[in-house]
Amino acid sequence: MSVNVYEKVWMWGAGGLIVLFLAAIGITAVTQAVQPPSHIETINPATLAEHPEFGDPQVKTDANGKIIVSVVAEMFQFRPDPIEVPVNTPVTFRITSGDVVHGFLIVGTNANAMAVPGYVSQFTMTFPKAGEYTIACNEYCGLMHHGMVGKITVTGGQQ
Ligand code: CUA
Repeated sequence: MSVNVYEKVWMWGAGGLIVLFLAAIGITAVTQAVQPPSHIETINPATLAEHPEFGDPQVKTDANGKIIVSVVAEMFQFRPDPIEVPVNTPVTFRITSGDVVHGFLIVGTNANAMAVPGYVSQFTMTFPKAGEYTIACNEYCGLMHHGMVGKITVTGGQQ
């Protein structure tokens, strides 16, 4: 089969674009953490109140000195509020929901997780700047969804 030279150019050009686009997705996924969370941990949302970690969600330092922030999202608040963490220190957020699906977006950062009843979402991030950050719920969860905001106070370092 003979293919016209112009047709060949267009075919290779179109093929090249597809490879380029897939490479862009692949590279950003690996280098900029644009990827789905791999952490799968289940929890019973009906007994959250008695749960050792989420019954009284708070900021804790574990035995290895890691800062763990346990968060319960529920209509229409995040607990604890405000969340206080130090600047320039890795902070691990562990988030679950006590009722319906909520979002957990830290405005001005790329931290964005879902709070799903029955699951614990976990990610680790470092705040490079001290100050106040807003947590917004970005999954529609009911009548007061728009008012579901929380606060993170990042302290220490030079402000
Ligand atoms: Cu919680 Cu929207």
